[in-house]
This record gives sequence, C-alpha cells and structure tokens, in this order.
Amino acid sequence: DPKSKNLVNPKELVGSELSFITDNLARLLESGHPMLNTVSRYYFSASGKHIRPLLVMLIAQATSIATKRQGRTSMLVDSNVDQIDYSLMDRTASQSIQSDLESLHVNQLMENATRGGHGGRPYTPHIKEGLTILPTHRRLAEITEMIHTSSLLHDDVIDHAETRRGLPAIQKKFGNKMAIFAGDFLLARASMALARLRDPEVIEIMASVLCDLVDGEFKQLKNLEDEDAPMAQPDENAFNYYLEKTYLKTGSLIAKSCRSSAILNNATDDIVEAAYIYGRNLGIAFQLVDDLLDFTVTSAVFGKPVGADLELGLATAPVLYAWQEFSELGPLVARKFEREGDVTRAWELVHASKGIGRTKALAQQYVARASEALMILPPSAARDALEQVAYSVLTRKK
Ligand code: FPP
Ligand code: MG
Ligand code: MG
Repeated sequence: DPKSKNLVNPKELVGSELSFITDNLARLLESGHPMLNTVSRYYFSASGKHIRPLLVMLIAQATSIATKRQGRTSMLVDSNVDQIDYSLMDRTASQSIQSDLESLHVNQLMENATRGGHGGRPYTPHIKEGLTILPTHRRLAEITEMIHTSSLLHDDVIDHAETRRGLPAIQKKFGNKMAIFAGDFLLARASMALARLRDPEVIEIMASVLCDLVDGEFKQLKNLEDEDAPMAQPDENAFNYYLEKTYLKTGSLIAKSCRSSAILNNATDDIVEAAYIYGRNLGIAFQLVDDLLDFTVTSAVFGKPVGADLELGLATAPVLYAWQEFSELGPLVARKFEREGDVTRAWELVHASKGIGRTKALAQQYVARASEALMILPPSAARDALEQVAYSVLTRKK
C-alpha cells in the first residue's frame, strides 16, 4: 500500500476539473437531432468513475514541473499505425474536409472550448503547488472519456448487456441501431476534438488506441472461435494471450492517454515513457480487478450484471487459475460454458480454487509496477495522488 505519509485526495487535487467534464461533454455532443443528443448523452447521465480524465489531469500536473523537451521526436511504442499508407489521404481531400467543417456550428463550439476553457469563461490555469492543467489537457480528458464511452456503447450491443452504470443498457432502452449510431457519433466528435489539439504525435497515438480496441475485441473473439485456440491449456501461452488482450481492450486507452498528457506538456522522452508505463500497468490491473469482481460482487453494487463473462463464454484470469487446479474446467472452457449447468459449475470451481486470490495478487504486481514507473517524476502531490489511484484499483468494488 502507498505509505500513509503520501495520503492526498486525488480528486481534490484536480479541483473542479472533473465536474466540468460532464457539462463540456453535453456541449460537445450537440447534434441538431434531439434523439441523437439523448442517446449519445445517455451513459453520461449516470456518473461514471471518470478514472481516465482523472489520470490525464494528474499526469498533466505531475509532469508539468518535469524537464521540458526542446524539439519533439515522434516516438510510438507499440503501435503499427506507421504501416498505414497515408497517401490514401490526399491533400485536396483533407482540405475540402476542413472547409466542410468550417461551416458546421460544432466548429465554433470546439473553438470556444479550446480557447475559453469551460463554456466560454476565461481560462484560468488551475494552480496548486505551481502545477498547471492546460486547456489542451481538459480537451484530452474529454476525448478519452468519449472514446471510452463510444466503445461501451458498441460493447453493450455486442455483449447483449442488460445494465450499465445502474441503468438499462443503451440498446435495451433505445435499440441496437441507436446504440451504434450514438457510439459512432461519440467517436466522430472525439476525432474532431483530437484534430483540434493540433498535435500530430498525440493525434497518431490516440488514433492507434482505436486500432487497439478492435484488436483486443478480436483477440477475445478468436480465443472463443478457433479450434486451435490460444487457450487450449491454462499455461503461460494462455496467460500471455489473455494479458495481451487485456492490454489492448483496456490498458491501451489508459496508457496512451497518460502518454499524451505528458506529451502535451512537452515532457522529455523518459518522462513520457514513464507516464505510458504507469498507465499501461494500471490499465491491466484495472481490468484484472474487473474480471475478478465479475465473480465477487453483487450486480446492485457493480452496476452491471455479474457472472457475465462466463455467460459470454470468456475464460478470464480467475478461470485460468482455477483450471490449473481443476482440470475438470477444460471441457467447460472449450465449449464456452454453453451446456446447461456449465456456468454454475465453473462459478463453483472458481470459488473453490485460489483463482480469485491469485488474480488479485497478479493485479497487485501490475499496480506495483505502475507505482515504480512514477519514481522518475519529480516528487509532487500529483505524483502521490497517481500512486494512490493505482492502489485504489485493488480495493474498488465497482
Ligand atoms: C468493455 O469490456 C469493452 C471494452 C473495454 C472495449 C470494447 C471495444 C469495442 C467494442 C471495439 C470498438 C471500439 C470503438 C472505439 C467504437 P467488457 O465487455 O469486458 O466489460 P463490461 O463488463 O464493462 O461490459
Ligand atoms: Mg465485451
Ligand atoms: Mg461488455
């Protein structure tokens, strides 16, 4: 656990920044179609945890007093976006897209947002111990929350979700078509806001997150549909595959948002890298805990159904560990818990095993790595808060 001397309140540190996000998002999601407005704002009406925006703000503060880079070197860690043929986007096309955008009223909205801070009020840097949050960091925080929510809107259609954030799932309330449109719309507005940052490195990194999300979902799918499944046995390969999937579907957005936040501060490469490693490890820990909560909490607390992963045929870490103890799980995993009684039996075996405890221990290791990565940052209240957020992942109940 973080040492008691480090106790700070992370949310207090970023002040009212987080509370502005919901209002700003509502403004960014104005479309001229009342139904689209309603659907795309639906999940924002229940309060999310805002963990991604919180991290963007705290990294912004924690890296603002670190050494600055003079020139920028574009550096991508793990993305394959550099293989994309950019010649497909010829100049004339992008110019005409730009002039199309000029005529949209959203353009003005984004401009105001970028220039004036919240709702056109004059921008005052949020200063605490000399640490500042720039307007670009606020925009990044909104972008990361829009991308996240967009992926949830699509995910709930894919997973036939019943509930989310204590509300009926989007497609239960508005139907699949509206859920997909709303997800697309959020992604579209996030892309515009991203382009508005006018930072090619950040644009490229955040765009690569979208590839990672789809990649992660396909890894999860492949694991279900292939005969020579990567999870034929609960061995090291299976764990590596599971962890890679976990990074792609959850870690990437968190890691690359943290990275981008440091980049917006012109932090040096080693600081930028530390922000990324922190987010990557925290993100993986976050999903590991999500996967174990699926076995341990009640749906009323979690805000979404529990036991859902088994119902979807997914073998997450608690199941992989339990499988190492009870080979009986093998056939159940192979047939995706499809037969009558499979889900209940798997649930019992997971609870009879050390699976949940071992998953927690694994999450602990990732949190420790996240916390270690912070140590090259200059000491600050924001750095302490980042450490605390990492540890709080382990005790979260929802
Ligand atoms: C939730 O996981 C889902 C994700 C973390 C990512 C979903 C990604 C896509 C659907 C790809 C498309 C992406 C975009 C940007 C449109 P979960 O189902 O395990 O968690 P849950 O219990 O919260 O549903
Ligand atoms: Mg899913
Ligand atoms: Mg889901």
